[in-house]
Amino acid sequence: MKALILSGGKGTRLRPLTYTGAKQLVPVANKPILWYGIESLVAAGIRDIGIIISPETGTEIQIKTGTGDRFGANITYILQDQPLGLAHAVKIAQPFLGDSPFVMYLGDNLIQDDLNPFLDSFKNQQLEALILLRSVSNPSAFGVAQVDENGRVLQLVEKPKNPMSNLALVGIYFFSSAIHHAISCIQPSARGELEITDAIQELINQKQSVEALQLLGWWLDTGKKDDLLEANRIILDTCLVKTIDGEKDEKSQIIGRVAIGKGSKIINSTIRGPVVIGENCHIENCFIGPYTSVADRVTLQSTDVEHSVILKEAQILGIDDRIIDSVIGQRAKLSLTPHHPKAVRFMIGDDSQIELY
Ligand code: TTP
Repeated sequence: MKALILSGGKGTRLRPLTYTGAKQLVPVANKPILWYGIESLVAAGIRDIGIIISPETGTEIQIKTGTGDRFGANITYILQDQPLGLAHAVKIAQPFLGDSPFVMYLGDNLIQDDLNPFLDSFKNQQLEALILLRSVSNPSAFGVAQVDENGRVLQLVEKPKNPMSNLALVGIYFFSSAIHHAISCIQPSARGELEITDAIQELINQKQSVEALQLLGWWLDTGKKDDLLEANRIILDTCLVKTIDGEKDEKSQIIGRVAIGKGSKIINSTIRGPVVIGENCHIENCFIGPYTSVADRVTLQSTDVEHSVILKEAQILGIDDRIIDSVIGQRAKLSLTPHHPKAVRFMIGDDSQIELY
């Protein structure tokens, strides 16, 4: 059994962060999203992992993630010249996949469930495809499946106007090598991509065994800001272990589950967990509230922040209002000017979003 993680794509929904980096490397609780997927595959006993990368962000992914040693995996990087669709990614990965069955895992997806029971079900029933589904309140935004009472998939539709169920396709699929022939039978969709839903529909049309199982736990597609914050909240809530390697002065208070990395200094501040703070951060006269992740070398001064993700080397200095529900990019600087006239001044990257009141 192999795995194929899709870590190319355009990442338009997470701009401007994706102008300068891969969305799969955006940290959730200070760990790249992509790494959760790799760990979950390794935990299911899958060590031979191919990662699809794009020309724009592939090098960064390779440098950061490496050969797989740190995960106990063997990683092969596969360059996809253009993001021509999920099925296109499988097509170009065929030399790596060979005839092996495989798990296809979208590199910006996170799920709570273990993969093991799904993998067992796929193997034991000798299916050609097993898809995972999750009920959602807005199925029109997803690929949607219609399933019979035995779990057999009858039909898949990408972003249907009139959804036939509320069961969305989660970004994790189990395939036998039959998927390669199905992909060779499909054409690009109206948006110019080879769609994996079309390839699975092709398997269904060929009367191959395609089944579905529902996830019981949460599922997040972190390619969007709100899901990224939600993933951060859930991971901090469920996985964070209290570890204080940095220093705090006597005037600072650390409450609840908080992790502080080496070389970080907390001065006259209150940190109320769950909160993770990376290495070599400077935090002075601040309140850092629950569900906040602060990456390495961040400076926060006279600032309140809560339910937010702050990427490496950002600086936030003397902001009066509490910062909530925010994602602050690498090296971004937010400060309150001491000069008159009282005004706001911006130097903001393309596609940034700022809400003032
Ligand atoms: P998407 O999030 O559907 O696509 P995207 O990355 O282009 O993002 P956006 O819609 O915001 O523009 O892709 C799901 C995952 O699959 C993501 O990790 C990127 C990856 N992917 C590829 O590797 N190759 C592709 O051709 C496509 C479409 C996606």
